[in-house]
Amino acid sequence: MSTSYRHWRIEREAEGLVWLWFDKADAGTNTLSAEALGEFDRVLTALEQAPPAGLIIASAKTAGFVAGADVREFSELDSAAGARALIERGWHIFNRLAGVSYPTLALIRGHCLGGGLELALACRYRVVVDEPVTKLALPEVMLGIVPGWGGMKRLPATIGPAAALDLMLTGKSVDAKKARRLGLADECVPPRVMDKAARTLVLSGRPRRALPFMHRLMNGPLKGLVAKKARAQVAARARSEHYPAPYAIIDTWLEHDGNALAAERQMATIFGSPTAKNLVRVFFLQERLKGFGKDCDFAARRVHVIGAGVMGGDIAAWCALRGMTVTLQDQSVERIAPAIARAAKLFDRKFRNDRRQARFALDRLIPDPQGHGASRADVIIEAIFEDLEAKRALFADLERRARPHAVLASNTSSLRLEDIAVALQDPARLVGIHFFNPVAMLPLVEVVSGARSDALMVRKAMAFVRGIDKLPLPVRSAPGFLVNAVLGPYMLAALRCVDEGIAAETIDAALEAFGMPIGPVELVDTVGLDIAMAAGKALTGGAADQPPRRLAELHGSGRLGRKSGEGFYRWIDGKAQKSTQGEIPAGLAERIIEPLLEATRRCVEEGVVDDGDLADAGVIFGTGFAPFTGGPMNYLRMRGADGEIPAIDGARIAPNH
Ligand code: NAI
Repeated sequence: MSTSYRHWRIEREAEGLVWLWFDKADAGTNTLSAEALGEFDRVLTALEQAPPAGLIIASAKTAGFVAGADVREFSELDSAAGARALIERGWHIFNRLAGVSYPTLALIRGHCLGGGLELALACRYRVVVDEPVTKLALPEVMLGIVPGWGGMKRLPATIGPAAALDLMLTGKSVDAKKARRLGLADECVPPRVMDKAARTLVLSGRPRRALPFMHRLMNGPLKGLVAKKARAQVAARARSEHYPAPYAIIDTWLEHDGNALAAERQMATIFGSPTAKNLVRVFFLQERLKGFGKDCDFAARRVHVIGAGVMGGDIAAWCALRGMTVTLQDQSVERIAPAIARAAKLFDRKFRNDRRQARFALDRLIPDPQGHGASRADVIIEAIFEDLEAKRALFADLERRARPHAVLASNTSSLRLEDIAVALQDPARLVGIHFFNPVAMLPLVEVVSGARSDALMVRKAMAFVRGIDKLPLPVRSAPGFLVNAVLGPYMLAALRCVDEGIAAETIDAALEAFGMPIGPVELVDTVGLDIAMAAGKALTGGAADQPPRRLAELHGSGRLGRKSGEGFYRWIDGKAQKSTQGEIPAGLAERIIEPLLEATRRCVEEGVVDDGDLADAGVIFGTGFAPFTGGPMNYLRMRGADGEIPAIDGARIAPNH
């Protein structure tokens, strides 16, 4: 048998069992590049000459099983022919794998994503290893494309269409236990018995698991109904002109039994769409953010957080969730208690299936009213009131007690880092680590360099942010940094529209139609009108224009938004009570977006971030700015390039209306 493979290794055992190890050359992670897939096809040809008693496909990488197709090759998406070739490649090879005469099994440990799961689905059996790192998903929809290598056919046939569509339309992942429960895996086993379990199952002759009767009906005569329901669910989240892929997944399953090649016209639209290109761009922007801090071997284990309020409490909880030992300081135990209670809820939610992990996380979060933890911490994060003198006094004291190499950071939103740093003997030690509210939801964290911040401290701060699984964005100290500097003018524009008499509902509907995850008026209510007022003052230096009239009125009467039960909307059970939205005036969304685009451009020009790509990454991951646009700078470019941009209603509109 040929052994001349770069990416695969064949091992024959007694009884004719063959192990096929995927070990992508020159890479830490297995991806199914054109070359790796081509070789896999050759492996199948070689095995045909002497069919094994059973074939087990496993990964030789510690990182995981297979992370998916090689996203770098997605540049082929530019042409219809390229897209077709990309789909054909995996579709045919995995059909071939599904059709071999001998039993096949995928042994899945760690991530098993996209094309990797499609490969596993083409095997007769799947064994998953029960570890937290094991995650199975078809996340293609997040890149604006579809699981064209058989996922749309085999996932519904394996776990039933309701669960399959849910996974494919959201891109979300399941862990090993859930995979077993869904029937996606035949067995879920601990690592120490995984090889034996795989050997036994592949040679067992056990018939393929049959789909329960109800699921067969749903994958047959009741398909139309299932599709209708799925379409309604997608429509509530994503508009087809912005995100065509989820709709195409439903149609391809419904009309072509998941064969993307048969839905050629639709595929050409999907794969050639600006959305797919822009979402692939967003994927690489995210990779770039993930790379920050990699050049630094700082591994924080102990974190000390001062201020157990809205932010400090949630920052501390997040750090404990991610495995750090955290001490949380405030002026009294009573002030710390609510934060601990919130944290307990977060841990319960995150570790729903593992009570022990939830308890360990809570054990790692230590109330520390005296602040003893400061002298042992690797990272100290200050999140007390927005008061310059209080912060100065705190840092002067902290500097004396902190370990010499510990990172000293402030979470301030509006104070100048340089103004706080004057209280330090060594002002270079201070950096900003600026989280967003709610901490558990927003992936971005701005890492702020002040004029005198030490570059090594900044790198350490970024490594820490990666260590708690957030995306660090390096920014320079400037009012509002990046995210608030672009959100401020955007929210201001929306509130000026309110003052003109346009209903909040209409404004929010216009921006949601543009692709924002939440309308700007609802956002102001969520952030809190007190914070919006303060942010407005800070961004304009306290001078400039009057604040929006309605904002000032509501604020003056103590209606602070969601937290007080009323702001621009009335809030019941955490939901804004909206009346009908009314007709959206032409150009309304563009008028409110324009200041955001302008502010982003200014931040790039002024060097708040190093380049336009980082600005796009920050605005997308920090505000949820419509990802299908590829970010504000990309949006401006697209608009400039062809003089026209896709309009909200799918028609074309001229720029600068
Ligand atoms: P908060 O008012 O909810 O909490 C502040 C906490 O700090 C209080 O529990 C208070 O008892 C405690 N505190 C005050 N002085 C202290 C001291 N000397 N020692 C120990 N504890 C002390 O405030 P919030 O909203 O959490 O903001 C904290 C910081 O985070 C501020 O700098 C703010 O600019 C920043 N920030 C706030 C965001 C938000 O959406 N609320 C978002 C991002 C940053």
